[in-house]
Amino acid sequence: MRIARDPGQSDSCSLRLVVTTSLSHENSLEATARRVSKRLSIPYVRRKNRSLSDVIGSASGAVVVESGRISLHIGESAFWFHPNMAKIRIMQLTRGQRDRMVEVMGLSPGDTVLDCTCGLASDAIVASFAVGESGSVHALEISSLLSEIVSIGLSTHEDPLSELVDAMRRVQVFNADYSDFLRKTPDRQYDVVYFDPMFEKTVETSTGLDIVRIFASPAAPADSDIEEAVRVAKRRVVMKDSSFGSRLQELGFKVLRGKRISYGVIDV
Ligand SMILES: C[S@@+](CC[C@H](N)C(=O)[O-])C[C@H]1O[C@@H](n2cnc3c(N)ncnc32)[C@H](O)[C@@H]1O
Repeated sequence: MRIARDPGQSDSCSLRLVVTTSLSHENSLEATARRVSKRLSIPYVRRKNRSLSDVIGSASGAVVVESGRISLHIGESAFWFHPNMAKIRIMQLTRGQRDRMVEVMGLSPGDTVLDCTCGLASDAIVASFAVGESGSVHALEISSLLSEIVSIGLSTHEDPLSELVDAMRRVQVFNADYSDFLRKTPDRQYDVVYFDPMFEKTVETSTGLDIVRIFASPAAPADSDIEEAVRVAKRRVVMKDSSFGSRLQELGFKVLRGKRISYGVIDV
Protein backbone atom coordinates (compact mmCIF):
# COMPACT_ATOMS: atom_id res chain seq x y z
CA MET A 1 0.00 0.00 0.00
CA ARG A 2 1.32 3.47 -0.84
CA ILE A 3 -0.11 6.49 0.86
CA ALA A 4 0.22 9.93 -0.70
CA ARG A 5 1.70 12.49 1.61
CA ASP A 6 1.91 16.20 1.08
CA PRO A 7 5.53 17.28 1.65
CA GLY A 8 4.66 20.11 4.01
CA GLN A 9 2.52 18.09 6.36
CA SER A 10 4.18 17.19 9.62
CA ASP A 11 1.56 15.24 11.48
CA SER A 12 -1.74 13.57 10.92
CA CYS A 13 -1.47 14.49 7.22
CA SER A 14 -4.61 14.11 5.18
CA LEU A 15 -5.32 10.83 6.97
CA ARG A 16 -8.36 10.70 9.20
CA LEU A 17 -7.60 8.59 12.24
CA VAL A 18 -9.59 7.40 15.22
CA VAL A 19 -8.36 6.40 18.66
CA THR A 20 -9.70 3.16 20.12
CA THR A 21 -8.67 0.37 22.51
CA SER A 22 -7.69 -3.26 21.99
CA LEU A 23 -10.48 -5.83 22.27
CA SER A 24 -9.23 -7.10 25.59
CA HIS A 25 -9.22 -4.80 28.64
CA GLU A 26 -11.41 -2.21 26.88
CA ASN A 27 -12.82 -0.88 30.14
CA SER A 28 -9.49 -0.44 31.90
CA LEU A 29 -7.91 1.19 28.82
CA GLU A 30 -10.73 3.64 28.11
CA ALA A 31 -9.41 6.44 30.33
CA THR A 32 -5.94 6.26 28.68
CA ALA A 33 -7.50 6.16 25.21
CA ARG A 34 -9.58 9.25 25.98
CA ARG A 35 -6.43 11.07 27.23
CA VAL A 36 -4.51 10.09 24.06
CA SER A 37 -7.47 11.19 21.92
CA LYS A 38 -7.51 14.59 23.64
CA ARG A 39 -3.73 15.10 23.43
CA LEU A 40 -3.66 14.18 19.72
CA SER A 41 -6.99 15.85 18.83
CA ILE A 42 -8.16 12.60 17.21
CA PRO A 43 -11.72 11.37 17.92
CA TYR A 44 -12.16 8.48 20.36
CA VAL A 45 -14.37 5.60 19.17
CA ARG A 46 -15.43 2.87 21.62
CA ARG A 47 -14.34 -0.59 20.52
CA LYS A 48 -17.49 -2.37 21.78
CA ASN A 49 -16.21 -5.84 20.83
CA ARG A 50 -16.02 -4.89 17.13
CA SER A 51 -13.30 -5.75 14.61
CA LEU A 52 -10.76 -2.99 14.01
CA SER A 53 -12.00 -2.42 10.45
CA ASP A 54 -15.54 -1.89 11.78
CA VAL A 55 -14.24 0.67 14.26
CA ILE A 56 -12.16 2.44 11.58
CA GLY A 57 -15.20 2.60 9.24
CA SER A 58 -14.64 5.33 6.68
CA ALA A 59 -11.57 6.74 8.48
CA SER A 60 -8.04 5.98 7.21
CA GLY A 61 -6.72 4.16 10.24
CA ALA A 62 -6.61 3.81 14.00
CA VAL A 63 -4.40 4.55 16.96
CA VAL A 64 -5.02 1.55 19.23
CA VAL A 65 -4.36 1.85 22.95
CA GLU A 66 -3.32 -1.57 24.20
CA SER A 67 -2.08 -2.80 27.53
CA GLY A 68 1.44 -1.31 27.81
CA ARG A 69 1.73 0.15 24.30
CA ILE A 70 0.05 2.14 21.53
CA SER A 71 -0.09 0.84 17.99
CA LEU A 72 -0.95 2.56 14.73
CA HIS A 73 -2.92 0.72 12.01
CA ILE A 74 -3.27 2.00 8.47
CA GLY A 75 -4.52 -0.36 5.75
CA GLU A 76 -2.53 -3.57 6.02
CA SER A 77 0.32 -1.94 7.95
CA ALA A 78 0.75 -1.76 11.70
CA PHE A 79 3.40 0.07 13.65
CA TRP A 80 4.34 0.14 17.30
CA PHE A 81 7.40 1.22 19.20
CA HIS A 82 10.40 -1.11 19.14
CA PRO A 83 14.00 -0.22 20.01
CA ASN A 84 15.15 -1.73 16.70
CA MET A 85 18.87 -1.16 16.06
CA ALA A 86 19.36 0.50 19.45
CA LYS A 87 19.42 -2.96 21.07
CA ILE A 88 22.16 -4.26 18.77
CA ARG A 89 24.18 -1.06 19.16
CA ILE A 90 23.96 -1.21 22.96
CA MET A 91 24.95 -4.89 22.94
CA GLN A 92 27.98 -3.97 20.82
CA LEU A 93 28.91 -1.12 23.18
CA THR A 94 28.63 -3.43 26.21
CA ARG A 95 31.10 -5.79 24.47
CA GLY A 96 33.53 -2.89 24.06
CA GLN A 97 32.81 -2.40 20.37
CA ARG A 98 32.60 1.08 18.86
CA ASP A 99 29.55 3.07 17.83
CA ARG A 100 30.20 5.71 15.21
CA MET A 101 27.54 8.15 16.43
CA VAL A 102 28.75 7.93 20.05
CA GLU A 103 32.32 8.53 18.88
CA VAL A 104 31.41 11.48 16.67
CA MET A 105 29.39 13.02 19.50
CA GLY A 106 32.31 12.29 21.88
CA LEU A 107 29.89 11.10 24.58
CA SER A 108 30.94 10.04 28.05
CA PRO A 109 29.06 9.41 31.32
CA GLY A 110 27.49 12.55 32.74
CA ASP A 111 27.06 14.36 29.40
CA THR A 112 23.82 16.12 28.50
CA VAL A 113 22.43 15.65 24.99
CA LEU A 114 19.66 17.41 23.08
CA ASP A 115 18.45 15.16 20.25
CA CYS A 116 16.48 17.57 18.04
CA THR A 117 15.02 14.81 15.84
CA CYS A 118 13.74 11.96 18.04
CA GLY A 119 11.96 9.85 15.38
CA LEU A 120 11.87 6.31 16.75
CA ALA A 121 14.48 7.29 19.34
CA SER A 122 17.12 4.70 18.37
CA ASP A 123 19.89 7.30 18.46
CA ALA A 124 18.49 8.86 21.65
CA ILE A 125 18.48 5.45 23.39
CA VAL A 126 22.09 4.76 22.38
CA ALA A 127 23.12 8.26 23.51
CA SER A 128 21.28 7.66 26.80
CA PHE A 129 23.26 4.43 27.32
CA ALA A 130 26.53 6.28 26.60
CA VAL A 131 25.86 9.17 29.01
CA GLY A 132 24.57 6.83 31.73
CA GLU A 133 22.55 7.60 34.84
CA SER A 134 24.50 10.76 35.61
CA GLY A 135 23.82 12.24 32.16
CA SER A 136 20.59 13.11 30.38
CA VAL A 137 19.04 12.93 26.92
CA HIS A 138 16.17 15.21 25.90
CA ALA A 139 14.61 14.26 22.56
CA LEU A 140 12.36 16.55 20.51
CA GLU A 141 9.76 15.30 18.04
CA ILE A 142 7.51 17.59 16.01
CA SER A 143 4.90 14.92 15.26
CA SER A 144 2.54 14.63 18.21
CA LEU A 145 1.55 11.12 17.13
CA LEU A 146 5.13 9.83 16.88
CA SER A 147 6.12 11.50 20.13
CA GLU A 148 3.12 9.93 21.91
CA ILE A 149 3.81 6.42 20.56
CA VAL A 150 7.54 6.68 21.25
CA SER A 151 7.33 8.20 24.73
CA ILE A 152 4.82 5.54 25.86
CA GLY A 153 7.03 2.87 24.25
CA LEU A 154 10.17 4.18 25.97
CA SER A 155 8.49 4.06 29.36
CA THR A 156 6.79 0.64 28.99
CA HIS A 157 8.71 -1.55 26.51
CA GLU A 158 10.31 -4.53 28.27
CA ASP A 159 13.43 -6.38 27.17
CA PRO A 160 15.76 -8.92 28.81
CA LEU A 161 18.70 -6.52 28.21
CA SER A 162 18.55 -4.37 31.35
CA GLU A 163 21.04 -1.79 29.99
CA LEU A 164 18.64 -1.18 27.09
CA VAL A 165 15.60 -0.83 29.34
CA ASP A 166 17.44 1.54 31.71
CA ALA A 167 18.62 3.67 28.76
CA MET A 168 15.07 3.81 27.31
CA ARG A 169 13.51 4.85 30.62
CA ARG A 170 15.96 7.75 30.98
CA VAL A 171 15.19 9.39 27.59
CA GLN A 172 12.76 12.31 27.95
CA VAL A 173 10.68 13.02 24.84
CA PHE A 174 9.11 16.43 24.19
CA ASN A 175 6.56 17.09 21.46
CA ALA A 176 8.26 20.23 20.16
CA ASP A 177 9.65 21.89 17.06
CA TYR A 178 13.43 22.25 17.46
CA SER A 179 13.33 25.72 15.88
CA ASP A 180 11.10 26.96 18.73
CA PHE A 181 12.75 24.88 21.45
CA LEU A 182 16.29 26.01 20.60
CA ARG A 183 15.28 29.68 20.55
CA LYS A 184 13.81 29.36 24.06
CA THR A 185 16.83 27.50 25.47
CA PRO A 186 19.61 29.37 27.33
CA ASP A 187 23.20 29.46 26.01
CA ARG A 188 25.43 26.41 26.60
CA GLN A 189 22.62 24.28 28.05
CA TYR A 190 23.62 20.89 26.57
CA ASP A 191 27.04 19.33 25.95
CA VAL A 192 25.95 18.06 22.53
CA VAL A 193 23.09 19.08 20.22
CA TYR A 194 22.21 16.48 17.58
CA PHE A 195 20.17 16.48 14.34
CA ASP A 196 19.18 13.51 12.18
CA PRO A 197 16.73 14.91 9.61
CA MET A 198 14.89 12.63 7.19
CA PHE A 199 16.88 11.67 4.12
CA GLU A 200 15.53 13.09 0.89
CA LYS A 201 15.04 9.68 -0.79
CA THR A 202 11.40 8.67 -1.53
CA VAL A 203 10.29 5.36 -0.08
CA GLU A 204 8.41 3.20 -2.58
CA THR A 205 7.56 0.08 -0.59
CA SER A 206 5.28 -0.46 2.35
CA THR A 207 6.86 -1.38 5.66
CA GLY A 208 6.29 -0.34 9.25
CA LEU A 209 8.83 2.40 8.73
CA ASP A 210 6.83 3.89 5.86
CA ILE A 211 4.11 4.66 8.35
CA VAL A 212 6.64 6.66 10.34
CA ARG A 213 7.65 8.50 7.18
CA ILE A 214 4.03 9.53 6.68
CA PHE A 215 3.90 11.26 10.05
CA ALA A 216 7.48 12.49 10.33
CA SER A 217 8.35 15.95 9.13
CA PRO A 218 10.68 15.87 6.09
CA ALA A 219 12.06 19.33 6.89
CA ALA A 220 15.79 19.83 7.43
CA PRO A 221 17.37 22.43 9.73
CA ALA A 222 17.95 25.91 8.33
CA ASP A 223 21.14 27.98 8.82
CA SER A 224 19.36 29.84 11.64
CA ASP A 225 18.59 26.55 13.47
CA ILE A 226 22.25 25.54 13.32
CA GLU A 227 23.27 28.98 14.65
CA GLU A 228 20.88 28.47 17.57
CA ALA A 229 22.19 24.94 18.14
CA VAL A 230 25.76 26.30 18.31
CA ARG A 231 24.63 28.84 20.92
CA VAL A 232 22.85 26.13 22.98
CA ALA A 233 25.72 23.59 22.79
CA LYS A 234 28.61 23.63 25.24
CA ARG A 235 30.86 21.37 23.22
CA ARG A 236 29.58 20.19 19.85
CA VAL A 237 26.75 20.19 17.29
CA VAL A 238 26.46 17.00 15.25
CA MET A 239 24.25 16.25 12.26
CA LYS A 240 23.79 12.92 10.48
CA ASP A 241 22.96 12.81 6.78
CA SER A 242 23.14 10.60 3.74
CA SER A 243 26.56 10.70 2.07
CA PHE A 244 24.91 11.46 -1.27
CA GLY A 245 23.85 15.05 -0.58
CA SER A 246 25.58 18.34 0.20
CA ARG A 247 23.42 19.58 3.11
CA LEU A 248 26.17 19.20 5.72
CA GLN A 249 28.68 21.34 3.83
CA GLU A 250 26.01 23.92 3.01
CA LEU A 251 25.17 24.26 6.72
CA GLY A 252 28.83 24.81 7.62
CA PHE A 253 29.65 21.42 9.18
CA LYS A 254 33.03 19.71 8.96
CA VAL A 255 32.08 16.46 7.20
CA LEU A 256 33.18 13.01 8.41
CA ARG A 257 32.28 11.05 5.32
CA GLY A 258 31.12 7.43 5.42
CA LYS A 259 30.14 5.11 2.59
CA ARG A 260 26.38 5.67 3.02
CA ILE A 261 26.10 7.93 6.07
CA SER A 262 28.13 11.00 6.90
CA TYR A 263 28.29 13.03 10.08
CA GLY A 264 28.76 16.75 10.25
CA VAL A 265 30.50 18.28 13.27
CA ILE A 266 30.78 21.84 14.55
CA ASP A 267 32.99 22.20 17.61
CA VAL A 268 31.95 25.09 19.79
C1 LIG B 1 15.20 10.55 10.48
S1 LIG B 1 14.10 10.79 11.82
C2 LIG B 1 15.16 10.64 13.21
C3 LIG B 1 15.49 9.21 13.50
C4 LIG B 1 16.13 9.07 14.87
N1 LIG B 1 17.46 9.63 14.91
C5 LIG B 1 16.15 7.62 15.31
O1 LIG B 1 17.21 7.14 15.70
O2 LIG B 1 15.08 6.97 15.28
C6 LIG B 1 13.79 12.51 11.86
C7 LIG B 1 12.70 12.89 12.84
O3 LIG B 1 12.79 14.29 13.12
C8 LIG B 1 11.50 14.83 13.21
N2 LIG B 1 11.57 16.27 12.93
C9 LIG B 1 11.69 16.90 11.73
N3 LIG B 1 11.69 18.23 11.87
C10 LIG B 1 11.56 18.47 13.20
C11 LIG B 1 11.51 19.67 13.98
N4 LIG B 1 11.52 20.87 13.39
N5 LIG B 1 11.41 19.56 15.31
C12 LIG B 1 11.38 18.32 15.91
N6 LIG B 1 11.40 17.15 15.22
C13 LIG B 1 11.50 17.22 13.88
C14 LIG B 1 10.73 14.07 12.15
O4 LIG B 1 9.33 14.16 12.38
C15 LIG B 1 11.30 12.66 12.31
O5 LIG B 1 10.54 11.89 13.21
